[in-house]
Amino acid sequence: MQMTKCLDTDIRPDKCILARERIKNGLLRRMDTLRHAIKESSCKHMIHGIIVFLEEYIKVHLSEEERAMRHYGYPSYFPHKEKHERFAAGTLALKEELLELRAPGARGAYELSVKTVHMVVDWVNDHVTKDDKEFCWFLGHRFF
Ligand SMILES: [Fe+2]
Repeated sequence: MQMTKCLDTDIRPDKCILARERIKNGLLRRMDTLRHAIKESSCKHMIHGIIVFLEEYIKVHLSEEERAMRHYGYPSYFPHKEKHERFAAGTLALKEELLELRAPGARGAYELSVKTVHMVVDWVNDHVTKDDKEFCWFLGHRFF
């Protein structure tokens, strides 16, 4: 799985909206793939890769976004960072649930996959398309 290619770590005022769209599309594309796997009953083979992708997204993208917010003096930095931390905590909970599924005879990949799709789609709708866009608007107004 090519994880880092959709992650834009170079957040500049003139590239911000394009970067957000690329990230949003990367997240939604993976959720579409996971939804398809749920329907095909093959999600148990995919959920690990999706959670690894989310961890990479948090480590690379969210950290970089926070760095850019500090760099440009974004006034909503702390509430925005708090939302990142909640998403990271949610992803960690998914990972812990996944580790429990590795026990012999354990079941639950379907439920975990559905939960993952809901969490990520909510994140895209509530955060990426609103909060991240506000940051882009801040950069646009400040620098153009
Ligand atoms: Fe964000």
